[in-house]
Amino acid sequence: MSEMEPKEISEIARMIAQAQRIIVFTGAGVSTESGIPDFRSPGGIWSSYDPELFSYQYFMSSQLARKKVWEMLRNTFFTFQAKPNLAHMAIEELFAHGCLYGVITQNIDGLHQDAGVPDDMVFELHGNMRRVICLDCGRLYETEHIKDKLFKEEIPQCDHCRGILKPYIVFFGELLPSNVLEEACFRAQNCDLLIVVGSSLSVYPAANIPRYALDAQVPLIIINMTPTYLDAYADVVIRGKAGEIMDRAVKLAFQKKLS
Ligand code: APR
Ligand code: ZN
Repeated sequence: MSEMEPKEISEIARMIAQAQRIIVFTGAGVSTESGIPDFRSPGGIWSSYDPELFSYQYFMSSQLARKKVWEMLRNTFFTFQAKPNLAHMAIEELFAHGCLYGVITQNIDGLHQDAGVPDDMVFELHGNMRRVICLDCGRLYETEHIKDKLFKEEIPQCDHCRGILKPYIVFFGELLPSNVLEEACFRAQNCDLLIVVGSSLSVYPAANIPRYALDAQVPLIIINMTPTYLDAYADVVIRGKAGEIMDRAVKLAFQKKLS
């Protein structure tokens, strides 16, 4: 198999085979092969919707604004039927082999957990679309609970206090969950390999995390279709589909481990 592999995939496999505490840092590009559009590729979400819709201020500005935001979420993320792809499964394989130190993700789709990575190993910097929170009484609901209302184009309200329900995701203008961010930064600095998969690394503070690993002399791999600001500092950069690359590299790594 290895003579068939381009040199970057063999090098990624060698680095994975040698690592014990791998952090995988993912962005929307890891889920495009599951049918969920990313943000900044041609045809991505920002080519159909104004990022302004994704701001806390806008969401809180009026009922009409909330109606538009729920509609955007219903037409993009709240697909419910998206399934993990080869990249998610390869990352779970790292967990199954005991060398995954965590997944730090900007994604809100929950596909890493669906692939079998335990919740306490997934650090969701931007929250998760599977829950909604009442801004008045703090109650949490599964998004499934309000799905019918969403598809009837109603604006969901809290069953308990009629308060405003907000997706349990981080909008622009909101702080990231501090406990999650802190743990993600700690793990990025204390892992022995950091692999970026499918992110443009263009939104902060999330995009700082792979740099914290670099500052701690952690080897860095970037698997992404387009350039990022850290490409020049990475040990390996490979352009191509996340699913195919991760699948081949992880399979080759564990063949090496066994040989
Ligand atoms: N394989 C590899 N790379 C891919 C694939 C794929 N199948 N599909 C897309 N990509 C790459 C794109 O080239 C792009 O560089 O994934 C990257 C996705 O970048 P963005 O769309 O900017 O998504 P992300 O980096 O996750 O954005 C971060 O921005 O809008 C906010 O909150 C939102 O969490 C999001 C954050
Ligand atoms: Zn309430």
